[in-house]
Amino acid sequence: MQPIPTLLTCLLLLSLVPPGQPQQVRRVPGFEVEGDECHCVVYLPNNSISLKQLEQLQSTVQELISKSEQQLSRVSECAHALEDQGNEVLEKSYMLKFRNPSALASPYETPTFDLLLLELQGAQELVTQLKANEGVNGAGDLLHQLQSQVTNASLMLKLLADSEQRSFGAFQQEVDVLKGRLNKCERDSEPEQASRYPSPPLPPGSCVHGGLQKVSTPLVVQLNWRGFSYKKGAWGRDSAPNSASSLYWVAPLREDGRYFDYYRLYKSYDDLVLLKNYEERKMGYGDGSGNTVYKNFMYFNYYGTSDMAKVDLSSNTLVLRRTLPGATYNNRFSYAGVPWKDLDFAGDEKGLWVLYATEESKGNLVVSRLNASTLEVEKSWHTSQYKPALSGAFMACGVLYTLRSLSTRQEEIFYAFDTTTGQERHLSILLDKMLETLQSINYCPLDHKLYVYNDGYLLNYDLTFLTLQPRLHRPPARRPSGAHAPPRPVKHN
Ligand SMILES: *[C@@H]1O[C@H](CO)[C@@H](O)[C@H](O)[C@H]1NC(C)=O
Ligand SMILES: *[C@@H]1O[C@H](CO)[C@@H](O)[C@H](O)[C@H]1NC(C)=O
Ligand SMILES: *[C@@H]1O[C@H](CO)[C@@H](O)[C@H](O)[C@H]1NC(C)=O
Repeated sequence: MQPIPTLLTCLLLLSLVPPGQPQQVRRVPGFEVEGDECHCVVYLPNNSISLKQLEQLQSTVQELISKSEQQLSRVSECAHALEDQGNEVLEKSYMLKFRNPSALASPYETPTFDLLLLELQGAQELVTQLKANEGVNGAGDLLHQLQSQVTNASLMLKLLADSEQRSFGAFQQEVDVLKGRLNKCERDSEPEQASRYPSPPLPPGSCVHGGLQKVSTPLVVQLNWRGFSYKKGAWGRDSAPNSASSLYWVAPLREDGRYFDYYRLYKSYDDLVLLKNYEERKMGYGDGSGNTVYKNFMYFNYYGTSDMAKVDLSSNTLVLRRTLPGATYNNRFSYAGVPWKDLDFAGDEKGLWVLYATEESKGNLVVSRLNASTLEVEKSWHTSQYKPALSGAFMACGVLYTLRSLSTRQEEIFYAFDTTTGQERHLSILLDKMLETLQSINYCPLDHKLYVYNDGYLLNYDLTFLTLQPRLHRPPARRPSGAHAPPRPVKHN
């Protein structure tokens, strides 16, 4: 009796899943508002009562048939004519079922049901025969018993058919209720979404906001293409702002967790997800997972040196190699849990950056803005954060955000350094992770997402930024379009 509601459920769920959001399917079943997401729950009618009744009915019929057979042989021995006692109950039950088959035309009619009907019909015919030949030798009582059992079984069958129709009706009602709740859920989540972004939503590459507010739950995109044992590496999307390019890159390090030898490029997110139309390249001289891609060039630490390397992705050629003055290398001050990441490159709305430590800084993180053409350091800022105590860092709108591990499942963005104002502040934005270590974190200004390589898995997160307040009192002339407003310091809880 299960298949129909199950099929309906599937169809319903499919129709309810918002297009292009297959990750929602993973959360089925479940229908509730959780944060800003709508989930679906379908309550199937509990058919176990009907199934139990059917089983009971079947055994009754079996019992009936064997009793009837016994009785038949007994009757033939007696060879006496039986009185014709029209039994009203039997007649009625017979009419109920067979002269009015529509009572059974429930959407749940199955071969089992038909078989039962046939068996019951057979049993009734037997009883009728028996009645026709009823002798005087005490067979009467048994026959009466049989009759009432048949009647009982018929009634049960009728009840069953009715209850199936009722439960189908109830199911349809539930579907309607569900639809209503989903609509409401969608409506309710709209204002919530609107309040999370400046309205209209933050345009690609825009810095017109008050700094990082929230990080979404991670979306697990896939395992890296080299497999589970390639736990260290990096991935991301070209972090040039205002670029039409949607170049995605994946760079799992060799299994030793240090040597960067191969990478893949995908021209679109779909290609990445489907692992098709990629270009696989050999590199062979990178160190650690500090890579980033900015304006179609990949930047990384040249193996075993404090040199920065710049590779043209259209030809996979090393176009520039330049020493980063003072930078320590060979795993001197890497991040906690992420060895060999002495030079950590980052791209954002404001340009290309490198995060590292020097002996002079006593291992504290130094942020330098680079001239992307020449790799010269344009300006450096010294932070108060000891780099080996951090689990990672990224840049967004010229603000450095650093992370630390809270547990095997959670990270905290706990510190920010604004290169525009030179000010630092503490904050607490939690970030869930799937596995223990975030091997690399790359920010993309175009979609305001973080691309995280989490022990071999490619994750991404949506970043939410604080809306600048009060917007209504600012004349548009003071904020020319395209200009990057300096992030205002905003209090976090
Ligand atoms: C269905 O109903 C029966 C009888 O009331 C009960 O024993 C059983 O636990 C129910 N099953 C579910 C899945 O609720
Ligand atoms: C008919 O069914 C009811 C309920 O299951 C039961 O109590 C009764 O004994 C049955 N009658 C016969 C004759 O089997
Ligand atoms: C990078 O350096 C070159 C050479 O010094 C200079 O011409 C160019 O303007 C610089 N680029 C930026 C963005 O400052």
